[in-house]
Amino acid sequence: MTSPLPSTGAGSGASLSLDGVTKIYSARGARTLAVENVSLAIEPGEFIVLLGRSGCGKSTLLKMLGGLLSPTHGDIRVAGRGLYDAGGRADHAALGSLGFVFQDANLLAWRSVWRNIALPLEVLGVDKPQRRARAAALAREVGLDGFLDALPRALSGGMRQRVAIARALAANPGVLLMDEPFGALDAMTRDDMNLLLQEIWLQERKTIVLVTHSISEAAFLADRIVVMSPRPGRIQRVIEVDFPRPRARTLVDDVRFQALTAELRDELGER
Ligand SMILES: Nc1ncnc2c1ncn2[C@@H]1O[C@H](COP(=O)(O)OP(=O)(O)O)[C@@H](O)[C@H]1O
Ligand SMILES: [Mg+2]
Repeated sequence: MTSPLPSTGAGSGASLSLDGVTKIYSARGARTLAVENVSLAIEPGEFIVLLGRSGCGKSTLLKMLGGLLSPTHGDIRVAGRGLYDAGGRADHAALGSLGFVFQDANLLAWRSVWRNIALPLEVLGVDKPQRRARAAALAREVGLDGFLDALPRALSGGMRQRVAIARALAANPGVLLMDEPFGALDAMTRDDMNLLLQEIWLQERKTIVLVTHSISEAAFLADRIVVMSPRPGRIQRVIEVDFPRPRARTLVDDVRFQALTAELRDELGER
C-alpha cells in the first residue's frame, strides 16, 4: 500500500465542492427538507466554519461531506473526485481522505491513548512500530506527550478530544470534518482547544470544515464563516474573516472582532 506516513505538512489539504446539495429525510411518510440547494467551493487548506442554530442542517451537511449520508440531489466532490456514485455509495478513495471529529471523543475504553490514535493505521495495515511512532508524533502535536500508555478514563474531556483529533489525523487525510468538537467542554478548555486547533491547522494545512453554534468560536477560527438558516437549512450568508494568523487569545478584545461577532449575532437574529 502507499504509506499514509508521515504527515505531509503544508499544502496537504484537499478541495471540497458542493453543487446544489439537497437532503430530504423520509421517515414513515414524513418528509423533512433538512438541507436545500447548498453550493459552496472550498479551497485546499481553507478553514471553513458552518455556523447556525440547532436544526439548521449543519450535521446533515457534514455527514454528506463525510461520505456518511448521500444527498437526495446535487453533487459533492473531494479533490475533484465525486464522493458518491449514482447509487449513493461513497467512493472508497475519497473516504480515505476524510477525517472526523465529533462532540463525543468516542474512544475505545480498553485501548491506551496511542492505540486509540493509531486505530485508523491498524485498519490500513500499517505495522506496529510505524503505528507507535506515528501515534507518538501526533500525541506530541496535540499536547499529550507522556500520556501514550494512559487509558481514556484517566483523561479529562479536553484531553480526550485531543486524542480524537490525533486519531482523525493519523491516516493523514486531506480534510478534517468536525461536528461541534468542543461543544461539551467548559469555556476555558474550549479556548485552549481553539488555540490548539489553529496551531495544528497552521502546521498541517488540512482543509477543515468545523460545525459550531458558538459565534466567538466561529469568528476566532474561520477563514470563512458559512451562516446557515433553519427550515429548510440553507446558506444565509458567507462571511470572510481576515484577521491575521496566528490569532492570539487577545483577539477577542479587538474592536474588529467584536464588530464581527455583533454582525454574526444580527445574522442569527440574536438581538
Ligand atoms: N435521521 C433523520 N431523520 C429525519 N430527520 C432528521 C434526521 N436527522 C436530522 N433530521 C432533521 O433535519 C433537520 C436538520 O438536522 P441537523 O442536520 O441535525 O441540524 P443541526 O446539526 O444544525 O442541529 C432537523 O429538522 C432534524 O430534525
Ligand atoms: Mg448538529
